Amino acid sequence: MKSSFPLLNVAALSCALFGASQAVAQDTDLVVYNAQHETLTKAWIAGFTQDTGIKVTLRNGDDTEMANQLVQEGAKSPADVFLTENSPAMMLVQNAGLFAPVAPSTLEQVGAPYRPAQGKWVAIAARSTVFVYNKEKLAADKLPASMLDLAQPAWKGRWGASPAGADFQAIVAAVLALKGEPATLEWLKGLKANATVYRGNSAVLKAVNAGQVEGGVIYHYYSYVDQAKTGENSKNTSLHYFKHQDPGAFVSQSGGGVLASSKHQEQAQALLKWITGPKGQAILKTGNSFEYAVGQGAASNPKLVPLAELDAPTVDVSKLDSKKVVELMNQAGLL
Ligand SMILES: [Fe+2]
Repeated sequence: MKSSFPLLNVAALSCALFGASQAVAQDTDLVVYNAQHETLTKAWIAGFTQDTGIKVTLRNGDDTEMANQLVQEGAKSPADVFLTENSPAMMLVQNAGLFAPVAPSTLEQVGAPYRPAQGKWVAIAARSTVFVYNKEKLAADKLPASMLDLAQPAWKGRWGASPAGADFQAIVAAVLALKGEPATLEWLKGLKANATVYRGNSAVLKAVNAGQVEGGVIYHYYSYVDQAKTGENSKNTSLHYFKHQDPGAFVSQSGGGVLASSKHQEQAQALLKWITGPKGQAILKTGNSFEYAVGQGAASNPKLVPLAELDAPTVDVSKLDSKKVVELMNQAGLL
């Protein structure tokens, strides 16, 4: 009898002290499986929560890992929203029938190329493929005209890539969509013969900057992000945009989708609407992510080469085939 009183008191006290701020999950709280860069997603979430009061828990991983987890969990997944770096992971989840349609008002907020035909997910940001090169090691007039040239014997031992990453695999998916299977396999075999393999785009950038290789295939923002910090891993480098609708000018779309199994459809849709809306897209312009904005009329960071100048190839992102990419990369001995 005696002991129950102090226990009760402790419980009562802790309720009084922490009741309001206790981290008890509310019915409207969202769980986001996040494969986008964590800093960018955190900035989006902070703005969204401030505007709506809806709290969000992030679970971070990479594109492929999180997409596979969603497929495995199926309708039992605790996830309400999925955000990625690239679209092949979105397609993996879409093809498993796990997405609810994106609200039409959200789709309308983004530019026409950034709404995949079926409307099961929407682009939230975009990134361009680039060839980063060491300015002392490689003269501007000796740059490859096409990314596909990097498979030629002349490029043996001179460039690097991070083939295990989802970023690079999205680029391979674009090559596959544009050039077909035999040409892609040929290119991958050339990559295997010529390229030094690194783990992650930052490692590629670092190696190029240090002169270990003359150049590397990465996304543009790795260099801008480094420049915005100390520039120590990019100071000796410059970016070459392939343009001319080359496969190496591929612009990859980061995606967002609402899981059909989510019990918070309204809140989950509101998050996608916020990210693709003026405030969410403004974070791309003013923040340090250096990814491109995709909202109608939304400006990207003025430091970037404008999206319209990149002369990117037209790629139907809903046809990007990540399974075939992995198969071909295995065949070429890259994975
Ligand atoms: Fe990335």
